[in-house]
Amino acid sequence: MKILLYDAKPYDRESFDAHLPDYPGITLDYLDADLTPGTARLAQGYDAICAFVNADLGRDMLRRLHEVGVKTILLRCAGFNQLDAYAADEYDMTVLRVPGYSPEAVAEHAMALALAVNRKLHKAYIKVRENNFSLVGLTGMTFHGKTAGIIGTGKIGQAMCRICRGFGMKVLAYDKYPSEALAVEGVSYVPLDQLLSASDLISLHCPLTDETYHMINKDTIEKLKPGCILINTSRGALVDSTDLIAGIRSHRFFGVGLDVYEEENNNVFENREDDILESSITSRLLSFPNVVVTSHQGFLTHEALDAIARTTLDNAMSVVDHYPIEANLVKV
Ligand code: NAI
Repeated sequence: MKILLYDAKPYDRESFDAHLPDYPGITLDYLDADLTPGTARLAQGYDAICAFVNADLGRDMLRRLHEVGVKTILLRCAGFNQLDAYAADEYDMTVLRVPGYSPEAVAEHAMALALAVNRKLHKAYIKVRENNFSLVGLTGMTFHGKTAGIIGTGKIGQAMCRICRGFGMKVLAYDKYPSEALAVEGVSYVPLDQLLSASDLISLHCPLTDETYHMINKDTIEKLKPGCILINTSRGALVDSTDLIAGIRSHRFFGVGLDVYEEENNNVFENREDDILESSITSRLLSFPNVVVTSHQGFLTHEALDAIARTTLDNAMSVVDHYPIEANLVKV
């Protein structure tokens, strides 16, 4: 199988190169550029393409890939909301993803963001570098004894629940399909409204679907406990950015930590130091002193990259062997 890997970063090359010798019959070429209507035609002659989380895999792109003969889409990520699964099905394309590579990596980043906004590490770091050793304005809250509300308790949400329990927090959870294991570990499932009004720290861990789109909006923000911390490491569009900005302006939040946000796609994984950003939403979010934004790096640990490369190559091999790994298949 010949695979073209789009948007290849140095850390992608490193992790895939380390595993490739274990997969005879698979060849991999790297492309720095991401998948665009212009670069789709470069996949001519390849059996599969490998794309990351921010690649546009809508109907038009899948048509272009189909036209140049691509039969397999290897997503080196968990989320697949960027893919038109119906179009992939119509074009008879096999799509595989990496459902869980290191849930703890993302959960640990969620807690890192929570700690950063809570203890104002982003401000403290800058102040001390400027020889300003004053503590004024840096007061946070002690997480121990406070209430964490975890929305979505799949692999990452469960890891986050356990981290919060480790901090001595009471943990409330909301999920359409509660986990029995978590309930035994002292996590209480409650209705969403109760979680929103009782939690000092809220962390989002459900996928982006029609149902979860803008689940944090004007109405839900009004239900929040005043002065809570909101963390989103899941998908930007779970939160209505305009309503979030209004909520921050009206002092609803102690702090907000975002690894993902709406309109992140042009920014994610790019160095745009010299650019004037086209989106005022991003600029406005960055302007608040109690908001910390990272660029979709929740997954970025050596262990997670290693697992992503291994599973992606396993996925490719399973297609070569005509038995695509059922649990990793993306279906309509
Ligand atoms: P998962 O599939 O294991 O868990 C998702 C959970 O959300 C499930 O328990 C499901 O029942 C629940 N859920 C679905 N719809 C819901 C609704 N309407 N209300 C409440 N709960 C609902 O997924 P996993 O692996 O835990 O990943 C969660 C999300 O994290 C992914 O969808 C992805 O968007 C994001 N992610 C972010 C990364 C980053 O680098 N920042 C890396 C990997 C994933």
